[in-house]
Amino acid sequence: MKRILGIVASQRVTGNSEILTKAAMEATGAETQKEMIRLTDLDIKYCKACYRCLPPDIPCHIKDDLNYLLDKIRAADAVVLAAPCYFLGPHGSIKLLQDRFLSVSNNFQEFSGKPCITITTYGALGSEGYAETALNLTARFLNLHLVDSAAFFGANPGEVLENPANLEKTRQLGRGLVEPGYQRNPKANECPVCWSDLLRYDGKEVICPFCGTKGEIKAMGSEIKLVFYPRDDHRFSDEGRSEHFIRYLNRKKKEFMDKRQHYKELQAPYRSLNWWVNPPANEE
Ligand SMILES: Cc1cc2nc3c(=O)[nH]c(=O)nc-3n(C[C@H](O)[C@H](O)[C@H](O)COP(=O)(O)O)c2cc1C
Repeated sequence: MKRILGIVASQRVTGNSEILTKAAMEATGAETQKEMIRLTDLDIKYCKACYRCLPPDIPCHIKDDLNYLLDKIRAADAVVLAAPCYFLGPHGSIKLLQDRFLSVSNNFQEFSGKPCITITTYGALGSEGYAETALNLTARFLNLHLVDSAAFFGANPGEVLENPANLEKTRQLGRGLVEPGYQRNPKANECPVCWSDLLRYDGKEVICPFCGTKGEIKAMGSEIKLVFYPRDDHRFSDEGRSEHFIRYLNRKKKEFMDKRQHYKELQAPYRSLNWWVNPPANEE
């Protein structure tokens, strides 16, 4: 029996993200085993940048719910990741979670091939911002196998259901989780590697700011098209992950150990400047 895990990054009970996650999970069939986690109910602390988790197989030592969540993802056969758009980006719990992925990034084969879909909800047409792209990056940083993603309009809780096309699309996404070999094609305006529709233009080339894939804007007859030249060593390839999360970070860690004293001397004049203030304890 396939196990489907739904992760919802919204505090709103029976909100749009929760509803669509349930619809997608339902579409995986009656025979799948379903579990849901409300990300905002978990205690996920900030990454401390201690780099203790850098060697493979060393879990993050912070005592919170991160390892519980990672174990749930390990146990799942497929994952639904859903979040609302807040201030043009994904709900803050998504970034907080993603910042804790160092402990699994050096062992990136672990989640490889596990199908995932993302569901983004937003409440103001034209204000979707970068939420879907960022949610997709969260799935890619975990090396989940992103098979489909979509953003859905609905401001008030339940409003996504007013448009029957939303439910239809969500069910299609859900079916994609259990359909062997299913993967949506990148859209014409998206990076073909990471599906980002946020692209940089340096006057000559178009560059995906996330995976580094380059392309060109080309006139083809009466049409203007984006043409990309994907490489095998982009950020989310095995080579790209090994280069950054294993070789580069270990080099920097060794450099830190070797030059510790030197850094201390550089820091010294600033250590003594003590202008910090703290709020009074919040009273309930
Ligand atoms: C603090 C806050 C910020 C929001 N920012 C945006 C935004 O930038 N763009 C947008 O389209 N909707 C925005 N919304 C609307 C939500 O994305 C929308 O209501 C969504 O359906 C909520 O999903 P939920 O019901 O799963 O919580 C915002 C809502 C809140 C509470």
